Amino acid sequence: MTHDTETDTDRPADPTRRAALGGTLGAAAAAAAVTMGARGASAQEAAGQGSLVGKTAFVTGGARGIGLASAEAMAREGANIVLFDIASGSLPNVDYPLPSEGDLAAAQARIEELGAECMTYQGDVRSLEDQQAAMQQTVDRFGSLDIVLANAGVGHAGAIGSVTAEEFSTLYETNVGGYLKTTQAAVPHLRDAGGGRIIYVSSGLARTGNDIFGIYGGTKWAVNGLAKSAALAYGRDGIMCNVVAPGLVRTPFADNAAVLAQMMPGTENPTFDAVSEMIAQSTPIGIGHLEPEEVAASVMFFTTDATKNMTGEVLDVSYGSAATSVA
Ligand SMILES: NC(=O)c1ccc[n+]([C@@H]2O[C@H](COP(=O)([O-])OP(=O)(O)OC[C@H]3O[C@@H](n4cnc5c(N)ncnc54)[C@H](O)[C@@H]3O)[C@@H](O)[C@H]2O)c1
Repeated sequence: MTHDTETDTDRPADPTRRAALGGTLGAAAAAAAVTMGARGASAQEAAGQGSLVGKTAFVTGGARGIGLASAEAMAREGANIVLFDIASGSLPNVDYPLPSEGDLAAAQARIEELGAECMTYQGDVRSLEDQQAAMQQTVDRFGSLDIVLANAGVGHAGAIGSVTAEEFSTLYETNVGGYLKTTQAAVPHLRDAGGGRIIYVSSGLARTGNDIFGIYGGTKWAVNGLAKSAALAYGRDGIMCNVVAPGLVRTPFADNAAVLAQMMPGTENPTFDAVSEMIAQSTPIGIGHLEPEEVAASVMFFTTDATKNMTGEVLDVSYGSAATSVA
């Protein structure tokens, strides 16, 4: 289902712009800005500002949290944004609330307030058809697909002996199967654009074992492997595939009763800040969590010219926690 508050939704793809978007990101900006301006650009685009002017970014799990913060960061740089999210309020086998359809609409409004164009699509990353339809609509509207953030995920806290078969399936079908389907749906469009970026949000838990998030952490180890294999498969297409692996981040994914109770057993009504302070005691810089905007800054790194020849990399964004992992 697409929600579109723009009036000019039927823009034809511009082959000139499409060609300009191939290759490196910075070189295309000026040509793209001219084209966008001719079609009725936002204030920022018209001014030709921003490293992502003329680019289109597709963000799974974009209704809130890391996905929305990353979408906002890309919008500030002039990108057109597509927010893909299930926005269902809840999901079977997931024990914390998910965003609603209204939250997805509010996210779109936040992006548009930044002067960017924004389309939303209410769909499920576990469905290849949903993602293919959303990406086709993306290209139909904006002319190309250039940056994909594979981010939609669900969590689980509890000992590995306690996970149910249904929880296990939901975790792997969403966090691994969903990322695979994002990749499969995106690659033909990124090839059409002459190359692009896929950025996978993994986790610092994909560096070690973990006694609270063992099953969830396993899905993120799989994401790192998927991203490296995608880097091998699509490098010659100019598609750079990299991973951002955050530590604890202040979003409803982590800041919920089920997770906090597992992280501070024996404490009545533990808060996110108390958990963060506890973690901070054992990190090298005395910090125990990140804000979503800090993760977004690392996502942005993989959209820049500085990373145009980097692929298969895993960037730890974990307040020094990675210093204790073996690799
Ligand atoms: N918050 C953390 O501490 C943390 C740490 C490391 C990694 N991560 C990872 O970062 C990513 C984003 O997490 P977040 O903290 O922003 O969580 P969040 O719960 O705030 O956002 C996740 C988004 O994904 C969407 N989503 C879930 N299942 C979906 C599905 N089947 N189809 C489409 N959309 C779906 C949700 O509706 C939600 O908007 C996840 O992959 C998560 O595993 C989070």
